[in-house]
Amino acid sequence: MRVGIGYDVHALVKGRKLFLGGVEIQSDKGLLGHSDGDCLIHAICDAILGAISEYDIGHFFPDTDQSIKDINSVEILRSVSDLVGKKGYKIVNIDAVIVAETPKIYPYREKIKERLSEILGIEKDSIGIKGKTTEGLGFTGRKEGIAVYAVALVEKTPGDWQELTGGI
Ligand code: CDP
Ligand code: ZN
Repeated sequence: MRVGIGYDVHALVKGRKLFLGGVEIQSDKGLLGHSDGDCLIHAICDAILGAISEYDIGHFFPDTDQSIKDINSVEILRSVSDLVGKKGYKIVNIDAVIVAETPKIYPYREKIKERLSEILGIEKDSIGIKGKTTEGLGFTGRKEGIAVYAVALVEKTPGDWQELTGGI
């Protein structure tokens, strides 16, 4: 088993839709970014990539690449999920904290978990999502941006384990 950590921040601006975990969230501001700015997905991707000892999301999807401008972050997560399988791992569980003064995350918790479980092909019960304010302090407190912390646990799939041990 191996654990990974991910962190991401995007600025909140007017005139953009807010996406977190591939789910649209009602808000007067959205996250700025080369992609749709879905910092929940980005942090989860980096946690997974770290767990399987790969480079980070910016390496695979650089923001200098015009061909992926406005890319849906769900696509990024799908390709990270594929890489996990290719390297002989499976995701055990994911946990994340969304640091945002507003909007409230808990009404969307189940929807986000459902969406992520579909994309990653894991049980809803293997995903934790929670919102947290910084009590008005700092850039998140001033609603200038949203930060996300995520961890991912992965394990070698039984097939590979059998290969390694000769099937013991
Ligand atoms: O009370 P405490 O400082 O621990 O937490 P808080 O940041 O004031 O948030 C209170 C509750 O609101 C938490 O239990 C979160 O579940 C929820 N929350 C949320 O759903 N979405 C946010 N963006 C912030 C907090
Ligand atoms: Zn990002």
